[in-house]
Amino acid sequence: MASQKLAVPCITVINGPLKPGKSVIIRGVVNTNPSRIEINFRHKSGIAFHYNPRFDQNKVVCNTWDGNWGQEEYPAGMPFRAGQPFEVYIYCSDRGFNVSVNGHQVHSYNHRFMQLHDIDVLDVRGDLQVTSVEA
Ligand code: GAL
Repeated sequence: MASQKLAVPCITVINGPLKPGKSVIIRGVVNTNPSRIEINFRHKSGIAFHYNPRFDQNKVVCNTWDGNWGQEEYPAGMPFRAGQPFEVYIYCSDRGFNVSVNGHQVHSYNHRFMQLHDIDVLDVRGDLQVTSVEA
C-alpha cells in the first residue's frame, strides 16, 4: 500500500489542551539528501519546544523561541537517517518533553514555557515526508 503524504509544512491543531500525560506521534520518511527537519510545539507568540534534527551538522538541536531564540541544547544522539522512515513519539510530562524515535527514548527537554495549556499547534517541516500525525 502506498503510504499517504501530508502537505509539508504540516500544521496540526493539538487535540488539547497540552498537559502532562499527553503525547503526540509523528510518522514520516526523511528525504534523501536532507539538511534539517523541525518539530515545533507552538503557542500564539512563540515556540515552546523546537526539536531540530540537523543532518548537515549530524546533531539534534532543541530550543525555545519567545521573540528570540534561547540557549540551544544539544542532546546526544542523532537517531534519524536520510531516506529512512521514522516514528517519533513525544510525551509531555510535568518536567518536560520526552522524545522517543523508533521505540527508543532518546531525548528530553525541560519545560521553559510553562503555560502548557497554551501550546496548541504542532508544526512539522523541513526535509521530510509526513505520513501521519496524531496530536
Ligand atoms: C537557528 C536556526 C533556527 C533554529 C535555531 C535554534 O540558527 O536558524 O531555524 O533552528 O537556530 O536555536
